[in-house]
Amino acid sequence: MPTKRDVLSMLEAARGRPISGESIAKALNVSRNAVWKSINALREEGHTIESIKKLGYRLDAGSDILSAEGIVSHINAAGKVPSPPLSDIHVFPALTSTNLTAKELALHGAQHGTTVVSDTQSAGRGRYGRTFFSPPGAGLYMSIILKPDQLPLQNPTLVTSIAAALTLEAIESVSHLRASVKWVNDLYIHGKKVCGILTEAVLNVESGAMDFIVLGIGINVNTPKEVFPAELVPNVSSILLECGERVNRNALAAEVLSRVLSIKDAAPALALYKERLLYLGERVVVHAPTGTYEATALSVDDECHLIVKTDDGEKRALSSGEISIRPRV
Ligand code: BTN
Repeated sequence: MPTKRDVLSMLEAARGRPISGESIAKALNVSRNAVWKSINALREEGHTIESIKKLGYRLDAGSDILSAEGIVSHINAAGKVPSPPLSDIHVFPALTSTNLTAKELALHGAQHGTTVVSDTQSAGRGRYGRTFFSPPGAGLYMSIILKPDQLPLQNPTLVTSIAAALTLEAIESVSHLRASVKWVNDLYIHGKKVCGILTEAVLNVESGAMDFIVLGIGINVNTPKEVFPAELVPNVSSILLECGERVNRNALAAEVLSRVLSIKDAAPALALYKERLLYLGERVVVHAPTGTYEATALSVDDECHLIVKTDDGEKRALSSGEISIRPRV
């Protein structure tokens, strides 16, 4: 039912303001009855649409159903960058993992910037084979397909760290919170993780070159405390819990996507990454592929390697692994 998507685009563009059924019908060249049917179908999907006597239909400003139309309308409203076409943004009510679906789309020829979003994931993928908790109606789980040859970056291996800095900016733009980066690419607010990023590269079987990158970003947006499993509560939080206000997920997706798709110069994002990096100068536990040891975190270099000093005075540049804070005794 294409009319339904068109009606949603119009309601999203007018978000918070009513538009008459007659003007929607005229603009879409359909009957008012078709508009009414579409409105009802959208309500069934969960969109909160008011009928206001003599004024028409209004999408409630607090309605928070993820949609391609909502994301595009927020990108257009900001007017900073051109939006990707609606047909390149795929929004699902539920998936196993948006990274998996994005990889399938990329293998079938999807273009640079194609984006997969899901309201929930049954097996959200985290780093090191962990799962990413992805309950419905609360988070933003999105994967963006990037073609390295269309990224104006010298070093595509830095994509994840640049994306972390851009996502941090996006979160701050919708919430007035201050976020930090925990090396490598987790975003923290008030000492708790609110966002994780998993980049997966798909290599060309013959040449070994990177055919495309799937940039997977998971943000706990409106997740209430009681929804998190008890074991996550000490370390994990959501934007809602930290700022006390719900954030519109389409608006946040638009902020992330428009930033990622308009990267031109990595330098400002890398500067922000370094400025917001946690634990510099502090004792940390390094969980490296070769083993776990204690060290002092010194700095991060231009390749986003973490420079640490071990207890015997050796300096190491870490390119993979994780750090945690030494348990206080
Ligand atoms: C981590 O914290 O270890 C990384 C988590 C990355 C989660 C996101 S959610 C969207 C995308 N799809 C996935 O399956 N994983 C990433």
